[in-house]
Amino acid sequence: MPLSGRDVISIFDFSDAEIEGVFALADELAKFARGRAEICAGKILATLFYEPSTRTRLSFESAMLRLGGGVISCAEMTGTSVAKGETIADTVRIVESYADAIVIRHPLEGSAKVAADYAHVPVINAGDGGHEHPTQTLLDLYTIRREIGRIAGTWVALLGDLKHARTAHSLAYGLARLKANVVCVAPEGLEMPREVLETLAHEYGVTPRQYPSLEALRGDVSLLESASRPTQANLDFDVISIFDAIYVTRVQRERFTSPGEFERVRHSYAIGAEILRNMRSDTLIMHPLPRVDELDYGIDADPRAAYFRQAAYGVPVRMALTAAVLGRREIPLDPHATVEPRIQPPAVRAAGATCGNPRCVTTSEHYLEPAFQRGPSGLRCAYCGRAAEEVKR
Ligand code: NCD
Repeated sequence: MPLSGRDVISIFDFSDAEIEGVFALADELAKFARGRAEICAGKILATLFYEPSTRTRLSFESAMLRLGGGVISCAEMTGTSVAKGETIADTVRIVESYADAIVIRHPLEGSAKVAADYAHVPVINAGDGGHEHPTQTLLDLYTIRREIGRIAGTWVALLGDLKHARTAHSLAYGLARLKANVVCVAPEGLEMPREVLETLAHEYGVTPRQYPSLEALRGDVSLLESASRPTQANLDFDVISIFDAIYVTRVQRERFTSPGEFERVRHSYAIGAEILRNMRSDTLIMHPLPRVDELDYGIDADPRAAYFRQAAYGVPVRMALTAAVLGRREIPLDPHATVEPRIQPPAVRAAGATCGNPRCVTTSEHYLEPAFQRGPSGLRCAYCGRAAEEVKR
């Protein structure tokens, strides 16, 4: 199935081979990342950002301009008819007549799916609340592949606010499916959501180890055996030395419902010079950015600090994705690869079931009928993916 015309709502919208194909095309298009091609000449990309963004919006727009296409951009949706109460469904049905593809970021979980359901042009999810951020995952995986040389078999620690960080959710899926080893480090209360862990277990048979702090992780010497890699003797066998990448996320202040809870956790982890001293010389420190105070500025000059390079990879990766969904480039595919994108179970109406997620798009877009999917662990909201509350009858 070609990528042309495809919506990108979740990292599950790609097969493994397609992810590799996007990377191969990104390698090829990287030569234009400081120049200009005519690959998307005559096409227009619309960027609709209902939430702040620096990297995602500007790198999509840069990518489209480097591809020779045009961009129409709403960096501030309060300057549009959204301020008059226009819905997501109506907004995208207008914008699709002005553009050939739509990139959307919105604070509600499931919002990108709504946009895709109503628009006839490809819709790309640039972050739907605390749910998913699949294009960030593409560039995160691309960073690991470019800088480490492979993804399969690597060890990656996800550190920080794993509850609210959409980048961590999508990346956990991407790493698990490409056969990396994922470990979760999150302060109490900010652990990876149950739905994400269930999906990892069910889809990939992966149950990441979880730790409340880096200190707790470094105390678990059994990880050294699991990683079964020769540890450099001069590192004193610090557990941290098994990792190929530490992926840090900020505490997602805007997703907290209780200011007191935010205050409790806001300074609960940070990466500084001490931890770098105990890491291998080739371990990457990654971060989707922006950082607040979880990455010390003192480590920026260290070659292991990969976060600015990671942000730069956003341009070739988004060039490849945009050219592919607009049908201007085929992604190179391994002819032996047969794995198709995951087929979503059909959405069903379920009497007595409700999505209890206050951040779900169904709470505010009044025209949406609640819809659910029946998964291995019960009903889930078809929009935000959260486990549904079922009234037992
Ligand atoms: C991330 C996001 O928006 O989810 N930023 C990004 O897209 N690079 C991470 C964050 O805001 O913390």
